[in-house]
Formats: sequence, structure tokens, C-alpha cells
Amino acid sequence: MARTIRASALAAAFLALLAPAACAERSASEERGRAIYFGEKGSPLDTAEVQIGDLTTKLPARTFPCASCHGRTGAGQSERGVNPSQITRDALTRPYSVKASSGRTRPPYTAASFRNAVRNGKDSGGNALADAMPRFNFTDKQLADLWAFLDVIDDVADPGVTEDALIVGAVLDPANPATAAQQKMLNALAADINRLGGVNGRALSFAQVAPKAASGDAVFGLIAPQGPAPAGLAPDVPVISVLPPSLPSAAAFALVTSEADQVAALKLFAVETWGVVSVKDACGAKKGDTVILASAACASAAKAAQRVLMTQSVFTSMPPANRALLPPDSYVSIAAPLSRVAPNAQAAFAKTRSRAGNGKSAILAEADAYSAAALMVEALMRTGRDVSRAGVIESLEGVRNFEGAMTPPLSFGPNRHVGSRGAEIVRYDAKTASLASGGTWIEPGAR
Ligand code: HEC
Repeated sequence: MARTIRASALAAAFLALLAPAACAERSASEERGRAIYFGEKGSPLDTAEVQIGDLTTKLPARTFPCASCHGRTGAGQSERGVNPSQITRDALTRPYSVKASSGRTRPPYTAASFRNAVRNGKDSGGNALADAMPRFNFTDKQLADLWAFLDVIDDVADPGVTEDALIVGAVLDPANPATAAQQKMLNALAADINRLGGVNGRALSFAQVAPKAASGDAVFGLIAPQGPAPAGLAPDVPVISVLPPSLPSAAAFALVTSEADQVAALKLFAVETWGVVSVKDACGAKKGDTVILASAACASAAKAAQRVLMTQSVFTSMPPANRALLPPDSYVSIAAPLSRVAPNAQAAFAKTRSRAGNGKSAILAEADAYSAAALMVEALMRTGRDVSRAGVIESLEGVRNFEGAMTPPLSFGPNRHVGSRGAEIVRYDAKTASLASGGTWIEPGAR
């Protein structure tokens, strides 16, 4: 008898560990407040309206869920100069002064002054809130539900994290020939980290996610080593890709500069090296031209040119027969040249690779996966045991000169989500079919 009781108590404890904290018991009012806060379909946010600043037109509130500005856990997050406040019940009922330029101070909130803030844009001290905080036409009851939810909001844990495990998704296309090697590399890296105690006491794993299914729902954050970050993610999912996404996002970080910026670096190189002001497209190349080869498609036209410039991805996509046609004055931009990778990172990468037991064929793809993962681990470690997505995004923005990736040193900031913004321009010798081992580092204006 005693044994069965012990066993079921253990099972219950185990289930409690597995159950996401988001499932904690909530009252009906807290649950309704949560639906408004996150703007769930069918919540009163669907039909409410907001007014912004002095604008007299009302907008549908649907596109302004509280979570989009104040974050999943009410912790607030700073974005482009505005700082949505921390609005957990704890924070609201503490008197405090806002650090923002406004320097607002206020007494603790009550349910009534909270209603006034959300409806009329006045804080508990009667100060006007910034225009960035919309005014909502909620009913008393809806505001009571929100107020109730804000008391339990920080019990909501981000997905993919439990007491003893943390799952990062790796966006890997099953059809990509490098996928298997990249996943093995990531498993080996996670094993290395877990041998040393994991990330702040949690076992790390990288779960493969197909690009089409990448939602961030079941994982804490994502790395995307095969392409830009997937589109359509929730705006709070931290994602690290190799190249930047075409649409910048507050939670998306990239290791190296975009194709477009590499082309800008190539043009700058042409100006600085030969004083060439007009760099043409390779498709219509004529004798004496300096041209950019934008895709392998125009490679045969490019042979007429005097000089051909191209990014590494165009270069690698070119069949050897086409490369042989390139004029002697040909140059390739390389965003992560080995000469700029810290020796320690090279050694650590080589060690992890040997544990992964991969052949040579996917080494560059493995380096991409390793780099994105190493940066994610760095940010997780810095965020500490009390980890949250917002915290990791803030940590990433605090990274300066990180030398643990197979890239040039990476630096980020609130307005800088591309870690390395230059490219090395290296000469390609068509006769010997080889790239020179060094070149000129070009970093076009900071973005
Ligand atoms: C578009 C972004 C945005 C949305 C959406 C938004 N807020 Fe805010 N909120 C802000 C900003 C920015 C501030 C800080 C204003 C200031 O400091 O003057 C703020 C301040 C507040 C404050 C005042 C806190 C204090 O420190 O005095 C409360 C309360 C608040 N928001 C509640 C909510 C609730 C509840 C929702 C959803 C119904 C919501 N906000 C939706 C941006 C937003």
C-alpha cells in the first residue's frame, strides 16, 4: 500500500516536470485576461478599438495585443527607442520611477488606476503615457480580467524550457544534402555542453524542424543555418540565421552580412582598387567592363569582361566549366574567411567535428550550424538560469566581439542584428582553379 502511494506521488512529480508551466491552474477570469493579453481569436480584443496619440481615427485593437509590446511575460522590451513598461502585477503595484527620458514617477497602481491607464493613457500618478501605448475601449469586466491575469503572467514559461531541459530548434531541410551532417554536428556540440553541466543546469538539445513547419511553438528559439530565418514566426522567438532575413525583426539575428551587402562591398572594392565607378551586370558584359556576376546564369557572357566580381554563393553555385571561363581578374567576396576566425574557435570546431564523425563533404555547412549554435549557447549562458526569450534577445544585443564562432568576431546591439558586416574580397585564379588565401577586408557603412 505504502509503495503504491510513493510510486504515484513520484509519477505526479514527474508529470509536473513535463507539463509546461503555462498549464498551471488558472481561474476563469485569469484565463479570459490571458486571451486578451495575447490577442487570441475570439477574445474581446477582436472587437475592441484603440486610439493612438492625437489621432481621432480608431483602429481595430486586434493588431495591438499587449504581448506584442509588453512581451510574453509582461517584462517589457525595448524596441526602436520606446520602452513598453514591465506590467506584471508585482511591477505595477511597486512605486517606481521610469528610466525613460520622460523620467515619470508614479505611486503603486490599483485596479482603478490600471483601468485608467489602459483606457485613457494616464499612469497611476496622472502622468500622460507615451503615445506608443495605445488606448483601448475595454469594459470594466474585461479590464478586471486583464488585471487578474497580470498577477499570474510570470508563471507563463516560454516553450521548450523545463526545469532540466532546454530545446532549441534547428531549421534543417530534409532535402538538403548537408542536413544529416549538420544535425550530427549539433548533437555532438550539445553532448559536449551537457557533459559540462548543460546551459545553466539544463540539458541542451537541438531538435530538427523542417523549414515549412518552423513555428517556434515547441522550441525555445531557433537556429537556421541553411538560409535566412523562416518567415511568419511569432515576433518573440529568438532566431539566429547565417544570412539576415529580408525583413528585419526584433528577434532575428544573423551571423554575417547579406548577399546585397556583399555586392556593395564588391562595388566598393572596385572603386577603391581601380577607380571603377560604374559596375555593370554581367549579362551584358562587353570588353573592358568591370561586372558583377549576380547569378551563375550569365557566366558565359561574363567572359568578355575585363574583371568579374561575385559573391561566394554565386561562385560556389557555378559549375567548374563555367569557372574556367572567368577572366584572370576575378574576385569573390567571402563573408566568413578562415583568416578572420579566432584560432580557439577553429580548434573547438575541429574537436566537435571529430566527435560528430562526419566526412569532409559538408564542412562549410557544418561550420554554419556550429556558428549559429555557438552564438545561441553564448546568449543562453549569459541570460542565466532564469531564462526567457526576451532575456536571450537582450543578451544577444549585448554580445560584442564574440570569437566563439567560425566567423569573424561578432558584435550586436539594439540596432545591430548582423554580427559581422564585412567581406573579404579574394582573387580567383581560373588557371589554377584556386582562390587566394588572403584578400582585402571591406566593410561598407554600418547599417
Ligand atoms: C504598441 C505597443 C503597446 C501595446 C500594444 C500595449 N502597450 Fe502598454 N505600454 C506601451 C508603452 C511604450 C508604454 C510605456 C509608456 C510610457 O512610459 O510613457 C506602456 C505602458 C503601459 C502601462 C503603464 C505602466 C507604467 O509604468 O505606468 C500599462 C498599465 C500598460 N501599458 C498596459 C497595457 C495593456 C494591458 C495592454 C494590452 C491591452 C497594452 N499595454 C498594450 C506600449 C504598448
